[in-house]
Amino acid sequence: MTRQLAIQIGLVCLALACSGCNRKYGTAQLAPAPSKYGTAIVESSGGKQIAAAGTTLPQPVIVQVNDEQGNAVTGAAVQFGGPAGVVFDPQNGITDSSGQLSSNVSLGPQAGRYQISAATITKDKKVVEVKLEEIALGYQQILGRQLNDQYCSRCHDPESTPERVSNYDNLAVKPHPFTEGETLNKMSDEDLAAIIGHGGPALNKSPLMPPYGYTLSKTDIQALISYIRTVSDPPYRVPGIVYAQK
Ligand code: HEC
Repeated sequence: MTRQLAIQIGLVCLALACSGCNRKYGTAQLAPAPSKYGTAIVESSGGKQIAAAGTTLPQPVIVQVNDEQGNAVTGAAVQFGGPAGVVFDPQNGITDSSGQLSSNVSLGPQAGRYQISAATITKDKKVVEVKLEEIALGYQQILGRQLNDQYCSRCHDPESTPERVSNYDNLAVKPHPFTEGETLNKMSDEDLAAIIGHGGPALNKSPLMPPYGYTLSKTDIQALISYIRTVSDPPYRVPGIVYAQK
């Protein structure tokens, strides 16, 4: 191989690699040209979903572009964005006949909350966006979710599913779904461990909350607490840390 040919091949490879890395960060991808413009973009569905880190959310994220009157706009451009590691399929597109664009979203490999956004451009070139939050579970929280499905959700989740009839309506004292941060965020990790391990009376609460200290290991209970902290809405904030205001 001549030196020149080698350099040429190298340049082509570099160009390919660069287009690949740009695509990953969503900068090189130009949104398709819009035929219409809206003034606002709203979430239609798909926010606040929970999936294992590095996997695709169970439902697509669907956003809608509206005009000043709140009517859906067909043919408007939408661009999705998110932290490194989040993959959108597609990353951008044009709204359909109901003014919507749907994207399948895979979360990054790290557990935690992912803020993603969808943006559209107005006639006077202003970018408007809507933010959504999704939750990625790590190994410990996935274990917690399994234990929740197995032991807790029949009382703590008011909704019945085809596999499980909720016992919620039969309970004289109502437990809280674990997403209810207003209540659960006020309880310390020690409180949670006490009520899960020793039952309601450990915190002067109803004995309808059974003790799990004989059934579950310490690791299991920690996994449940970690799961409860991860899914709470509003988000749980670790005491002693000062958080920036949004
Ligand atoms: C048989 C029904 C039942 C099951 C199963 C159950 N709980 Fe409860 N739980 C309750 C009730 C009822 C309360 C409310 C007690 C009160 O407020 O006096 C409660 C309260 C709690 C609380 C305090 C916050 C709240 O909701 O009021 C936590 C935390 C909790 N349960 C965790 C769990 C975990 C974790 C599991 C599974 C390992 C579980 N529970 C399984 C009935 C249940």
